[in-house]
Amino acid sequence: PSAQTGEFWLFGYGSLIWKPPPHFDRRIPGWVTGYVRRFWQVADLPPPPPNSQDHRGTPEAPGRVVTLISRSYWEQLTDHHDAAPEKVWGVAYRITPDRVAEVKQYLDIREINGYTIHYTPFFPAPGVDPELVPQHGPFQTLVYIGTPDNDQFVGPQDPQQLAEHIYRSEGPSGLNRDYLWALEQALDELSPESGDAHVTDLSNRVRAIAAREEEKEKKKRRS
Ligand code: BEZ
Repeated sequence: PSAQTGEFWLFGYGSLIWKPPPHFDRRIPGWVTGYVRRFWQVADLPPPPPNSQDHRGTPEAPGRVVTLISRSYWEQLTDHHDAAPEKVWGVAYRITPDRVAEVKQYLDIREINGYTIHYTPFFPAPGVDPELVPQHGPFQTLVYIGTPDNDQFVGPQDPQQLAEHIYRSEGPSGLNRDYLWALEQALDELSPESGDAHVTDLSNRVRAIAAREEEKEKKKRRS
């Protein structure tokens, strides 16, 4: 919630960019700072209902999704992708004022698959109509972050192994590679400078793996 204005804004840096939350009336491109976006969170399935024979809650190879790492913590780590943009691009959604109480109640489930609620200032992209934002300059947004202390946090991984893992994985909402490529495309569409080298490098690696696997399949069919 924005203390200054009473408006309620949510920042999305992952699937929220292309899959909006319920009950929003504005979608503004922009960025937050002080974080690094990484594919370091296990895409867990929701647990199966009690007494269910259904074991989807413990998949053998759950995929990977993005989280935000605090930059000061990230600087202490050895990451194969050792550069990260100052700005983490994404979108801020304003929740329709008459639905705020309802949405807050629903978001107040403090944790979603290991993600916890944080608040961070959001900077609207240049060119955003000032009439659409609560004030001049940055304003407060709610953001979901999978912090290093959550069970689904993975940490630094070899990019090629991570790409192979993403290629093989499928989650509750589809193929893990489709999530990766959708993120790459959604970032590309935000602004000419909103690309993220970590996402682009993984996307390229997974495309190369997909081409390799397709070749293998073709050879198999021919023989
Ligand atoms: C996001 O897009 O910001 C997001 C989506 C699901 C969980 C956490 C973050």
